[in-house]
Amino acid sequence: ANKEFTGNPRRQLAKLFEVSLKLTVPDEPNVEPLIEPGKFGDYQCNNAMGLWSIIKGKGTQFKGPPAVGQALIKNLPSSEMVESCSIAGPGFVNVVLSAKWIAKSIENMLVDGIDTWAPTLSVKRAVVDFSSPNIAKEMHVGHLRSTIIGDTLARMLEYSKVEVLRRNHVGDWGTQFGMLIEFLFEKFPDSDSVTETAIGDLQMFYKKSKLRFDLDPEFKEKAQQAVVRLQGGDPVYRKAWAKICEISRNEFAKVYQRLQVELEEKGESFYNPYIANVIEELSSKGLVEENEGARVIFVEGFNIPLIVVKSNGGFNYASTDLTALWYRLNEEKAEWIIYLTDLGQQQHFHMFFKAARKAGWLPDDDKTYPRVNHVGFGLVLGADNKRFRTRANEVVRLVDLLDEAKDRSKAALIERGKDKEWTPEELDQIAEAVGYGALKYADLKTNRLTGYTFSFDQMLNDKGDTAVYLLYAHARICSIIRKSGKDIDELKKTGKIALDHAAERALGLHLLQFAETVEEACTTLLPNVLCKYLYYLSEEFTKFYSNCQVNGSAEETSRLLLCEATAIVMRKCFYLLGITPVYKL
Ligand code: ARG
Repeated sequence: ANKEFTGNPRRQLAKLFEVSLKLTVPDEPNVEPLIEPGKFGDYQCNNAMGLWSIIKGKGTQFKGPPAVGQALIKNLPSSEMVESCSIAGPGFVNVVLSAKWIAKSIENMLVDGIDTWAPTLSVKRAVVDFSSPNIAKEMHVGHLRSTIIGDTLARMLEYSKVEVLRRNHVGDWGTQFGMLIEFLFEKFPDSDSVTETAIGDLQMFYKKSKLRFDLDPEFKEKAQQAVVRLQGGDPVYRKAWAKICEISRNEFAKVYQRLQVELEEKGESFYNPYIANVIEELSSKGLVEENEGARVIFVEGFNIPLIVVKSNGGFNYASTDLTALWYRLNEEKAEWIIYLTDLGQQQHFHMFFKAARKAGWLPDDDKTYPRVNHVGFGLVLGADNKRFRTRANEVVRLVDLLDEAKDRSKAALIERGKDKEWTPEELDQIAEAVGYGALKYADLKTNRLTGYTFSFDQMLNDKGDTAVYLLYAHARICSIIRKSGKDIDELKKTGKIALDHAAERALGLHLLQFAETVEEACTTLLPNVLCKYLYYLSEEFTKFYSNCQVNGSAEETSRLLLCEATAIVMRKCFYLLGITPVYKL
């Protein structure tokens, strides 16, 4: 296929304008092209005004920004992709793309596959640290956000050819293990006899041992010694610890499997052997000071210091995170490290990032690689606008949410009589795809920095901006193609697309903006950007379908190919959002 059809108009235009900028203002070689989706044309180039303010004092031949814009147009290399350019307002260059070129790009994608549209990021390897629940505590709805948003970011980076280390930084180390282990010994003197069913509900187990810890000073004493033994490597204690972790791990794995999320566990304990050396390195750089018995790092902009060694000599969350960062940069050679937790932990992240910059591990700005980002998110709220809880005011368990999402979508399918059309297995699979998809999409479509109100009724609505609506839209497109009776794979190879109707052209252009949308969602770390794109895609499709007859029309081949391209892009969006597409609904 022609190299010029890369399926990323924004980038391709930027390349053309880069050439034009060099010709127009040869004395300003470092000006980067500013290309955006346009208000009047398909795209606009916004360089003229900024350039003018740079060159006007330097005796330029140009008489103002519009003249600079004119020159940018004149110097633009000729290209199949550009239909026309014009100047608007104070000097914006509007670009109208060629409908032929848009059509050709889509034809190429249909032949070569949607992966040829994947953006290329300049990063080779990234760590996404997400989900990361705490051992012996149940995963709750806050971990749901971390899991869902983190998985989507990982998928988008992977699609953009970045190698992603998907890290589950589980809380498997720390003082709570003293009481858990002592409690375990009381109940099961022989830790080999501990089975999952014996402990049963780990959350209950945690609660009971905590109660014991708070009420019984003798138990508390033992628990504190247990921590020392565990951290000192006592094999009996290590074994009990490993057992508790294993039971938790199996519970987490069930949730990940249902959500179809891949994660590799490297918990806090993994970094423990390296902490002392890392703190030593930071000390030798003069960063660590004594403060009220603890050892701390003072970082600019915060009125409290970052504690890296507690007054009892133990390490903490921050020392572990500094060590994990060191490991990821030096041992794993990651260039971009992305952390997902709720915004409540923002200060922790910003403080240890600052400490790492002070140590010279990271550049001072947060755009140059190696780069770290805390991807924070807001709370999930209940109908009462307070933190989402059960009626009994307990934390909402993730498994219960998944069950309910599935049950409700199954009931809705049965109401539509699908139990008569489909096998029980199909019903089950589709209920899961719809139910879990709805749960994920409702989370991903809001800007993560704000919280959202959890509502099954809303997320499972088949109208509006919901996964259910989108899954239906996709299934409807599949059915249009099926009903044509045409072999779409054959058509793809030879068929031609024409974008003569305005609605066809608008749909075609939107399809072609898929890659740059993924790129934007990656660089801004905002998955809602992709959700918005997907929702608009379904709207553009609806406009097209209500204006242009597909089956039985003179333009049938071209229009079926547009249907197919839309279905392919929708499926890729679903995939990137972790949603399983459905072909009939
Ligand atoms: N275990 C922590 C929690 O549940 C989240 C860990 C996030 N990752 C990290 N590297 N600190 O709150």
